[in-house]
Amino acid sequence: MTTLPSTTSGERAAELSPQLTAWRRHLHANPELGFHEHETSAYIAAELAKLPHLTITRPSETSVLAVLKGGKPGQTVLLRADIDALPIAEENQFEFVSQNPGVMHACGHDGHTAILLGVAKLLSERPEAISGEIRMIFQHAEEIGPGGAEELVRDTPLMDGVDVVTGLHLNSQLPTGVVAVKPGPFMASPDTFEITVRGRGGHAAHPEEAVDPIAVGAQVIANLQQIVSRNVSALENLVISVTYFHAGTTHNVIPDSAALMGTVRTFDAGLRGRAPKLIERVVKGVTEAHGATYTLKYELGYRPVVNTDWVADKLMAIAQAEVGENAQLAQPSMGGEDFSAYLTKAPGAYFNVGSGNALLESDYPHHHPRFTLDEESLVTGVRMLHAAALELGKR
Ligand code: NI
Repeated sequence: MTTLPSTTSGERAAELSPQLTAWRRHLHANPELGFHEHETSAYIAAELAKLPHLTITRPSETSVLAVLKGGKPGQTVLLRADIDALPIAEENQFEFVSQNPGVMHACGHDGHTAILLGVAKLLSERPEAISGEIRMIFQHAEEIGPGGAEELVRDTPLMDGVDVVTGLHLNSQLPTGVVAVKPGPFMASPDTFEITVRGRGGHAAHPEEAVDPIAVGAQVIANLQQIVSRNVSALENLVISVTYFHAGTTHNVIPDSAALMGTVRTFDAGLRGRAPKLIERVVKGVTEAHGATYTLKYELGYRPVVNTDWVADKLMAIAQAEVGENAQLAQPSMGGEDFSAYLTKAPGAYFNVGSGNALLESDYPHHHPRFTLDEESLVTGVRMLHAAALELGKR
């Protein structure tokens, strides 16, 4: 791995800090759900319009694209930030809490948006220093399947001619200042299933005359755990979680059916293909054994995020130049990300920037009603993405 000379972006990024904070707080106070980011995208487009040299378009109703052509020949680089919020009632107390009841930036996408605005500002100051073309996509609907990335990749020319793609996620479980990069498998495919176990209802005092879908459903859940422990190699990664089990109405009635839902996560395409068959085998076998029947609905979510090795290596070298010993090898996560859609069209890598700081209570997990950011992390994010744009643009 080569170490690159540090860029001058650090100082300028630090100077931008008050502006990054202002952008982030405005976005935090005005969160919108995926596919409904009308005010968010209008705000982003208006802020970008204040900068020189950018071509600004709206690839979809609620996404924004800013393109900057550099003064030197080079690669076409896509930088991505996601802009949507979550259906969570915020429990923070600060003055810029959500003004949209029941909706909250609880994953840090407000920070991602502020960071990419900051990168656009730095890049637009010196287009002559840039090689190639930098496309900055403010992507809608990361949190809601089928996802905004899928739509942009499938229905727009966004990825046409893109040579390499990168983007970051702030991570409250890493200390502020840390940049974590990993070649290869980085985030999992978040597939989902719904199972209905159909028995035969009856009086709870006479179970022998009924087929109890609750007892059968409990067996289904227990046996699904055997797939990971008994059917999959210890060297492979698979998570099967049943997250919903609903049946019945009262003490003395055996209901007709039970409903189960859950998620299946893996990094591996082969295992991802096998999982539905393994699950169906268990559900079919267990329900048949007890005289019940079933329906199984299995839905594929986002693809796993598998980083391109050379891009991740380059980002690691950039991280070492920008943050020194705070550059770390990232742990893979069983979380999902629609960044994977871009990776079907171009090499690229996704990475993490730490935003956790116990003193500021910014170490709540993502999607928690008290999630927040250490705003110092925005400066680190700008440094990294700005340096990445400059380096990846070179041929
Ligand atoms: Ni997120």
